[in-house]
Amino acid sequence: MELIDRLKRVAAEALAKIEVLDSVTALQDYRVSLLGKKGELTGVLRGMGTLSPAARPRVGQLANEVRDQIEVALEARTTALAATELAAKLKQERVDVTLPGRQPYHAHVHPLNRIIEAATEIFLGLGFSVAEGPEIESEYYNFEALNVPPLHPARDMQDSFYLHDGHVLRTQTSPVQVRTMQALSPHYPIRIISPGKVYRRDDDATHSPMFHQIEGLVIDKDISLAHLKSILLMFARQMFGAEREIRLRPSYFPFTEPSAEVDVSCGTCGGLGCRVCKGTGWVEILGCGMVHPSVLSMSGYDPEVVNGFAFGMGIERIAMLKYNVEDLRHFFVNDYRFIRQF
Ligand code: DAH
Repeated sequence: MELIDRLKRVAAEALAKIEVLDSVTALQDYRVSLLGKKGELTGVLRGMGTLSPAARPRVGQLANEVRDQIEVALEARTTALAATELAAKLKQERVDVTLPGRQPYHAHVHPLNRIIEAATEIFLGLGFSVAEGPEIESEYYNFEALNVPPLHPARDMQDSFYLHDGHVLRTQTSPVQVRTMQALSPHYPIRIISPGKVYRRDDDATHSPMFHQIEGLVIDKDISLAHLKSILLMFARQMFGAEREIRLRPSYFPFTEPSAEVDVSCGTCGGLGCRVCKGTGWVEILGCGMVHPSVLSMSGYDPEVVNGFAFGMGIERIAMLKYNVEDLRHFFVNDYRFIRQF
């Protein structure tokens, strides 16, 4: 029986070949070439059509056996090779679990808020607490109660944004002084600071229409300029460095008498004079003074019984000095290349 011989020969060849093929892909290809539609074994089986009906069952049975044998051999060899291939791959592709992960970008506190936090921390340490007030303010709190009557020329110093209903975007944090005194009078002592946003019609490298201030107010018995100066010196040294000095220059504010502007010794040149301090050795950081008697009495305190001091500083100015930033607008454009440095 020629067919039976051919079947046996195909089977013997196939089983031998399967043992020498050495990859899963090669086995897959071989399987197709043997058992696929145009495969070798399939071709042999096609010859069965020419057999006599009596011979068919025997040949058919043998054909099935041969096919099963080959399938089993293919399966076993595939499983073995797959395991070897996986082991080899695992050996080569080591995963280093100690490798640091990719760092996601962590947001952080804005440099201006860092200054506000640092300043607040310093004043909390000096016995102050934090008070807040509205950014949309009445003219009364922003001006009148601070000794700036309607036609007072000092209103021109702070070109304001007015709302239709007569309110104003506060031009300074000083109205929080008034609100605090009105809420607490006639009780004392008062020791507060008030950080927050203020608004003025200004826009250039050192002025922005929105900026930040920290107001300070102390009301008690027998407060003197010496108290004011020592508090500000402690603040300046904690904020800028223990080697710093301050000086008070006489100035004018409607709500303080006497009034002063405060300079801190230049950190860039140490006081010798340079570009940052315009050759003077000093840079201005804030305004201050002894609370005007009219401001005290308007807010319910008797100037014969208590007095106090107040100060107001610009946060952007402090930040520019501390971080050596030459243009205030950098703080507001939120360019990541700038912001990430802090
Ligand atoms: N409000 C002032 C300004 O915006 C700063 C200031 C000066 C505040 C003297 C004070 C002060 O409390 O006593 O220019």
